[in-house]
Amino acid sequence: MTRWMTVALAGLMVAGCQKEGGEAAPAKGPASKAAATQAAPESKAPATEAAPESKAAAPAVDYRKMFQALPDDMPSGTNPITEEKVALGRMLYFEKRISKNHDISCNSCHDLAKYGVDNEATSPGHKGQRGDRNSPTVYNAAGHLAQFWDGRAADVEAQAKGPVLNPVEMAMPDEAKVLEVLSSMPEYVEAFKKAFPDEAEPVTYDNFARAVGAFERKLVTPSRFDQYLKGDDTVLTNLEKQGLKLYVETGCTTCHNGAYLGGMMYQKLGLVKAWPELKDEGRSKVTGNEAEKYFFKVPSLRNIAKTGPYLHDGSVKDLKTMVSMMAEYQLGRTLEASDVEAIVAFLESTTGPLPLDYIKAPELPKSTDKTPKPDPS
Ligand code: HEC
Ligand code: HEC
Repeated sequence: MTRWMTVALAGLMVAGCQKEGGEAAPAKGPASKAAATQAAPESKAPATEAAPESKAAAPAVDYRKMFQALPDDMPSGTNPITEEKVALGRMLYFEKRISKNHDISCNSCHDLAKYGVDNEATSPGHKGQRGDRNSPTVYNAAGHLAQFWDGRAADVEAQAKGPVLNPVEMAMPDEAKVLEVLSSMPEYVEAFKKAFPDEAEPVTYDNFARAVGAFERKLVTPSRFDQYLKGDDTVLTNLEKQGLKLYVETGCTTCHNGAYLGGMMYQKLGLVKAWPELKDEGRSKVTGNEAEKYFFKVPSLRNIAKTGPYLHDGSVKDLKTMVSMMAEYQLGRTLEASDVEAIVAFLESTTGPLPLDYIKAPELPKSTDKTPKPDPS
């Protein structure tokens, strides 16, 4: 499947490039850009020859067609979003007492006031231990095809069960202990009852995950880019519009497209040129498929200017470096500094205001004498 995907992608990339060579670039872009455009397809002769016929008739490209505006929320077929679940999920998201030493919550690594990240390469968990992957943002994440850099959790509900029990994150010994903590506080028991009214024993680990998932499913950040997609031409500057054009014509949209500008497929890091010092094998470790070695979920680029450092290992600090490396290693293209600047300006237009009311830290239930004590060991 991946071999096929890679081939198909190569075809797409060529098609994307040709469009530029055929219509947009020679007329508007500087000469050097047109030359660069043509450099890539040459090596892939068969596909190159297929295009010219369609050229003359092709209408001007509307770059907006390659994206969709963000939805109002990211619904689930199995976990309907209700107000009561969201209210409980918000509490649980900020709840440190479901970590071994009562010092870490989801919000520690995915700080909602910081665009859902902690801006660290890797995040400190229980006793300051760090895993080997970067914390991705939780904003606009629930709509992705799967969760984690390697897609090993199907959805946000499945994902939420992981960190609480992960020994380098929240480090709880088992599900029963988590439920013991939550059941020790009558306000939590009441909130679970409200969120899952049809269940006799609603305080379960599955329901914990459902509540957190429902909360995450509303973490969307519509931006000026969405207003533009919905037809308002005045909201983007010329530089941002130029950046959008370059983003599409360079081929970024072969991977980072749709409503999230990513999140919809797995791709190899270092597709056309081996990525330097890559250790993590990514998706092949999950699927056992050698052909998926170094494949990662294509990340969403929404709010990307706020969520560095970048990549699964947090190894790239600066967004401009990231953009030019992507062009080089994923697409075999060399971008001029001014092009990189324009693309970064475009990406910044996807920074949405934070939903401050929605993410306000809630008041949490008071511990009782039944609540287990913090355990620093
Ligand atoms: C100690 C830091 C830490 C804590 C605490 C933590 N996470 Fe994460 N989170 C991470 C890291 C690191 C990853 C990426 C791991 C990977 O891909 O292998 C991640 C991945 C995710 C993702 C996947 C996003 C995507 O785009 O794929 C979601 C959603 C998420 N966490 C939500 C949560 C929730 C909800 C909690 C609390 C129940 C939580 N996290 C607690 C560090 C943390
Ligand atoms: C062949 C698919 C592909 C193409 C084309 C591609 N990317 Fe990526 N991009 C990825 C993958 C996969 C990752 C994540 C890799 C990782 O973390 O190891 C990524 C990561 C990124 C990141 C870091 C995101 C984060 O949250 O850390 C940025 C920024 C980025 N790409 C921008 C671009 C831009 C701009 C272009 C066009 C110049 C582009 N990409 C072209 C697949 C692609």
